[in-house]
Amino acid sequence: MTTDGFDKFKGSHDYVTSEALRNAVNVAIALKRPLLVRGEPGTGKTLLAHSIAKGIDKKLIVWNIKSTTKAQEGLYVYDTVQRLNDSRFGDKDISDIRQYIKLGKLGEAFVSKEEIVLLIDEIDKADIEFPNDLLNEIDEMSFYIPETGETTVTVHRPIVVITSNAEKELPDAFLRRCIFHYIEFPDPALMEEIIKVHFPDIRDNLLHQALATFYSLRKIDDFRKKPSTSELIDWIRVLIASSTPDEVIPSEIPFAGTLLKKEADHAYFVNNYMKKMRTTKTADGYETLR
Ligand SMILES: Nc1ncnc2c1ncn2[C@@H]1O[C@H](COP(=O)(O)OP(=O)(O)O)[C@@H](O)[C@H]1O
Ligand SMILES: [Mg+2]
Repeated sequence: MTTDGFDKFKGSHDYVTSEALRNAVNVAIALKRPLLVRGEPGTGKTLLAHSIAKGIDKKLIVWNIKSTTKAQEGLYVYDTVQRLNDSRFGDKDISDIRQYIKLGKLGEAFVSKEEIVLLIDEIDKADIEFPNDLLNEIDEMSFYIPETGETTVTVHRPIVVITSNAEKELPDAFLRRCIFHYIEFPDPALMEEIIKVHFPDIRDNLLHQALATFYSLRKIDDFRKKPSTSELIDWIRVLIASSTPDEVIPSEIPFAGTLLKKEADHAYFVNNYMKKMRTTKTADGYETLR
């Protein structure tokens, strides 16, 4: 079998990929279908799109989805407010409506003269209609702008990467039309590689103490938000900057606030975990942790 088109993406030096993920990316590129990546926060979904763009040397356009985002506004919006303002207060010629047509990220991706990578980040944030509407726009690519009577021309189908957090279900019709890949939360061995990408000179002992502590915290089911990769990276950065001795990492978990972002989780941690540690009375009678 010729592999032409199936091995375009080989990864990038700052992003750790599995072979299965690289294959999914290459299949999506070759078949010109959107790649849908799902996984918990911190599994590198957003960074993947950056890595693809870098790896195959294309420009990246990022469309961050919000709860109110509609597929149509990804194509373009007609800025009537600006036009009204110009007609009232300016001496500008407002007869050319084209100047008030503002392309959205999808529109920008479609009219781009070069092939680009389009990241549609966190699709699960929008309402239930959004995924199917979006795929219709992506299938059609060209779009008609009634306000100007023009139809846009698409030269290249963008390479589309769509990310979604694991919890929310997406419509079946949508899933059928995408190439799907689920990124598992990294196991300790893979996480070691990821951390080394960010801290190439990290000492082995520090790395192992931090990872062991991190994975033991992730086992606590009562946390509302388990610490994920971003928090681990921040925490390790603080541990290095503060020259914390390795041996206190698992026993005291210094700078736990970097790992646990929810107040309730931090309180749970202090009450259930830290209580096991020795406490001392200060002069004013309060107990403090040592
Ligand atoms: N495979 C990986 N290689 C390198 N860094 C990674 C990888 N996965 C996650 N990271 C790091 O973890 C953090 C979270 O990644 P991100 O792409 O924002 O995750 P997600 O979008 O899945 O929530 C980033 O700081 C990123 O640098
Ligand atoms: Mg993300």
